[in-house]
Amino acid sequence: MEVIITNSGEELSCIVADAICKALASRAEPALGLATGSSPLPAYRELIRRHKNEGLSFAHASAFLLDEYLGLPAGHDQLYRTFLEQNMTGQVDLDPARLMGPDSSTGDVTAECARYEKAIQDAGGLDLLLLGIGTDGHIAFNEPSSSLASRTRIKTLTRATREDNARFFGGDLGAVPQHVLTVGVGTILEARHLVLVANGPAKAHILARAIEGPITAMVPASALQMHPRVTVVSDAAAASGLQLADYYKETYAAKPR
Ligand code: F6R
Repeated sequence: MEVIITNSGEELSCIVADAICKALASRAEPALGLATGSSPLPAYRELIRRHKNEGLSFAHASAFLLDEYLGLPAGHDQLYRTFLEQNMTGQVDLDPARLMGPDSSTGDVTAECARYEKAIQDAGGLDLLLLGIGTDGHIAFNEPSSSLASRTRIKTLTRATREDNARFFGGDLGAVPQHVLTVGVGTILEARHLVLVANGPAKAHILARAIEGPITAMVPASALQMHPRVTVVSDAAAASGLQLADYYKETYAAKPR
């Protein structure tokens, strides 16, 4: 696992955008798994800038949502599909038909989750999967106690996650859905490159448990320790609980280019 503790928001966004550019160049029809939420937004802005100013193209790529709320009406501005379209894919030349997500309007959740797993397989697997981390250790919406071998399925959000996300629903906890469809930890671990972005002091405690603590279903992000190619990109605040912070900094500074 590579842990990069960045010195500025700009450096953080550039490192994540560079990794995505590399994935885009890795095969003829690359597939990206893209998180929603606040953590990846600066990197998405950097990618949009590169598209507009430097000719970066997503025309040959597919994008896969990691998760989706159940129970929100079509067109709701907090559907993750809408969020990703507005903040990323709709601002670059990605074909809208190649933005995939679990369909939360489905009547048959089990069949929809199996279809989504197959869609990822049919795309040749995910070349890069960009993750945030919840304050309770979730990745995608795999809440604590999720099986580390789980696949796409329905999950119930913890109260902590719903409280964290109430800010996107005008502070109204009651408006945050209880249920989601989410890729599983097992699905995540099959992506070729995992990039986890963490920023802000609220993530410090859980980031330390995820990276340096034991692998446990109580901290689903700790499963990343089992993946051969993980890049954690953190700001100083989120990295403040890391025991080996100095080592990570030395390692990155001395990285053979
Ligand atoms: C969203 C997702 C979640 C978020 C996590 C952190 O698609 O998969 O795991 O990444 O809840 O959210 P922020 O970045 O808003 O703190």
